[in-house]
Amino acid sequence: MPHCGLEYSIKSGVFECEKGHLLDAKYKKIPSRALKELFYSRRNPQGSIFNESGVWRFRELLNFCQIDTGNAEECAKHLVSLDGAEGRQSKPYHMSKVANFVGLKNENLSLQPEGYNPSGSFKDNGMSAAVTHAKLVGAKKIVCASTGNTSASAGMYAANENIECDVFIPLGQIAPGKLSQAYQFGTQIIEVEGNFDDAFAKSLEVAKKFGGYTVNSINPFRIEGQKTILYRALENLDWEAPDWIVYPGGALGNTSSCGKSLMELYEWKWIKKIPRIAVVNAEGANTLYDLYNGKFEETELKWNAGKPNTELIKKYYSYLDEKKIRPKTKATAIQIGRPSNILKAIRALEFTNGVVTQVSDEEMLDGMSIVGLNGFDCEMASGSVPAGIKKLIKEEIIKKDDVVIGILTGRQKDAMLPVDYHNNPNNLFAIPPKK
Ligand code: F0G
Repeated sequence: MPHCGLEYSIKSGVFECEKGHLLDAKYKKIPSRALKELFYSRRNPQGSIFNESGVWRFRELLNFCQIDTGNAEECAKHLVSLDGAEGRQSKPYHMSKVANFVGLKNENLSLQPEGYNPSGSFKDNGMSAAVTHAKLVGAKKIVCASTGNTSASAGMYAANENIECDVFIPLGQIAPGKLSQAYQFGTQIIEVEGNFDDAFAKSLEVAKKFGGYTVNSINPFRIEGQKTILYRALENLDWEAPDWIVYPGGALGNTSSCGKSLMELYEWKWIKKIPRIAVVNAEGANTLYDLYNGKFEETELKWNAGKPNTELIKKYYSYLDEKKIRPKTKATAIQIGRPSNILKAIRALEFTNGVVTQVSDEEMLDGMSIVGLNGFDCEMASGSVPAGIKKLIKEEIIKKDDVVIGILTGRQKDAMLPVDYHNNPNNLFAIPPKK
């Protein structure tokens, strides 16, 4: 993609075609709808960690290893899992205070916390799949750049599988809790002066030169694993598609993955309706918002049936460089100026008639805090989801009767953020301490 039509074997280990476009995993067979019952029955795992896992419970829909999915030995040989923990606790919840805050009926809003994954973010969904593929191609070392959560997840699986892991981090721009996980799991940290975009470029360069299997979301198998985030949400709605699915936008792996799974489910006739995707950017890191909505050169960046205006993206990046504009938000997880999955993301937005909005740091902090008041923990980047929903309702893009699912991508790993928030009585939901 876009429409080059080039194909590569699953074991080739390449993620880009020779024209520089990211690859998709493609399956030959249409999976039977009867699998819905099998997936549900696996919620009683009957001793199998691959049934317990919220990722591998759906293994027939991401069977890129082409194994006999009913064969326990083959599963154990190929599928990477942290004792079935990835995705195990994730499902959508109604959160009445959030619903009230954004202006939806409680029964119409579900939020799915992905922060209760073993490494504390949605990344474990995709990482278990990417490391499965790394093992399939015999990789000895995995490599990534990260704003924090990717490195924590990669480090955890690498340690568990006894493979090496190098992580490139933007120095001083990642939450302390995430950095400490990368150390704790024994990764080799490479500090890069600059932001995530610089660290990512560096990691690709080094991986190419010295060998290393990249597990950032340019990796198509990450995208495959992340499809299960949507499967769990849909299963909970008896596979009745909602009106909206809302994600924060960073490198846009989630947006791409959600789009791909919706395209597949629709093609297989597993869902009758296509929900719309809403992506929420931070105001200070809003490349997709600017480009998709025509805020740059008055030209909207659209997928255009596989012929996107890639020149516009290049021009935008040159403009950012010339003006020395760097992504800037306190939600460091999504402080990204050059989202590597932008093309797959606009494909997803075209397929779903999606929208892209942006919110301020203050709005994200309020979003994060109101989730907390429902007894759920999430980080600031995830707070963009309630904030974005609220904004889209106010703009009457999301209608008051619409059914909305929001994905809360990660758990709080920046311990002082809530402390600072609540110590400032001017904040909307602050409960300042008493003396
Ligand atoms: N939310 C959290 C908590 C994240 O950590 C990230 C990305 C995103 C949202 C954005 O998701 O890239 O799929 O659009 N974190 C990456 C990392 C970049 O390195 O941990 P996306």
